Amino acid sequence: MTAPHSDALVFFGATGDLAYKKIFPALQSMVRRGRLAVPVIGVAKAGWGLEQFKARARDSVEKHGVRDPQALDRLCSLLRYVDGDYADFATFQALRRELGSAEHPAHYLAIPPVLFGPVVDQLGKSSCARGARLIVEKPFGRDLASARELNRILLRNFDESSIFRIDHYLGKTPVQNLLYFRFSNSFMEPIWNRYHVKSVQITMAESFGVQGRGLFYEEVGALRDVVENHLFQVLSNLAMEPPAGTDSEAVRDEKVKVLRAIPALDPGCVVRGQFRGYRKEKGVAPDSQVETFAALRLEIHSWRWKGVPFFIRAGKCLPVSATEVIARLRRPPAIYSATPLPPNYIRFRINPDVAIALGTMVMNPGDVLTGSPVELLACQRSASEKVDPYERLLADAMKGDATLFAREDYVEEAWRIVGPVLGHVTPLSEYDCGTWGPPEMEQTVAPPGGWVDPEGAC
Ligand code: BG6
Repeated sequence: MTAPHSDALVFFGATGDLAYKKIFPALQSMVRRGRLAVPVIGVAKAGWGLEQFKARARDSVEKHGVRDPQALDRLCSLLRYVDGDYADFATFQALRRELGSAEHPAHYLAIPPVLFGPVVDQLGKSSCARGARLIVEKPFGRDLASARELNRILLRNFDESSIFRIDHYLGKTPVQNLLYFRFSNSFMEPIWNRYHVKSVQITMAESFGVQGRGLFYEEVGALRDVVENHLFQVLSNLAMEPPAGTDSEAVRDEKVKVLRAIPALDPGCVVRGQFRGYRKEKGVAPDSQVETFAALRLEIHSWRWKGVPFFIRAGKCLPVSATEVIARLRRPPAIYSATPLPPNYIRFRINPDVAIALGTMVMNPGDVLTGSPVELLACQRSASEKVDPYERLLADAMKGDATLFAREDYVEEAWRIVGPVLGHVTPLSEYDCGTWGPPEMEQTVAPPGGWVDPEGAC
């Protein structure tokens, strides 16, 4: 049986920052592509009316979206607005009235996690949860215990099959392309295992700092902010087995299996860093121990990967903004040279442009059998067909397709893995902005052959 399409989209936190920067532009794109034609009901406590809400949507799309006056008018005609306190039952009664005959609304919580519980309970009590879907934004807890508690709260009024946990990295085409590329090219499977892959490294570098989000960042740090969610999703796509089908659960089952095979992190295999100047950011404690950089090594104890080290590093204020994966293959035996040859590698570039590259050795011109490393590169820079992750994810959730959302068991496994290194248990080293993190990283957590620093362009 096909899942019913959501017949209304309700979004809580409608006057907030996320809505302004990401959600209205995504909604306009959904309208443009014919993916949204149902009422969109904003809920917030701002003392606003519908006209102010529409003005906010217009302003948001002008600043952060693509210019398309017709689509924007159509979006504005779909907008409704309910103003009220989330603690007040009357707000949810008003929402129920505004939903009218909608039977399968999708409720999107773009609000701080402390409000998830009260809002979900009010949705239940006011009958707004009946037949509905729930879309939630990270963070999904801050450790295993709080993630379990959050899941318990969500499951009080919604089934797991109706809950869509957004990790916007999953909505990025190049992250999906890791799966597509692996499972659509026959040359990949024979080499994609411990017999041929020597090590895998994933780097997520950002050249900017916390951009005024110091207060938020103090609660998370790099491990919680991007490693246990975004980069573990990249890792899962790289390491999972082919799914038994293309349905959401077949794919999500395989991802959970990857995480289950990863032992909890060893604190000795983690380096944490903080950029100089972070403690002067607004909202940051003068003696903050929060990491703005993390590097770690882990292993996947599966038939395919046992013995292959996986390295992950992520940091703010690094030299460039780029996310990249390098899988180094085992070295070939050197027949034409007395010295060992460099290993072949596969490079997947995920951000900001999309690229897949193969590191090879090619013979130099002339008749002597010497060679040089050459990278065979496929690169896509065109942004014209780019679908924003939020557009894709909201459209999928409204269709009831859960493939690109984090499942309850996946979230809990991810927290289990990082558990031993949360709470600032490992030392913190400072690094200068514009460098590749604390120098300690090279001694403690470095792939054989070293880290490859991504360049500014693919
Ligand atoms: C967010 C983090 O989830 O992802 C940010 O909170 C980070 O700190 C961002 O900068 C990176 O995502 P993107 O899509 O902008 O590369």
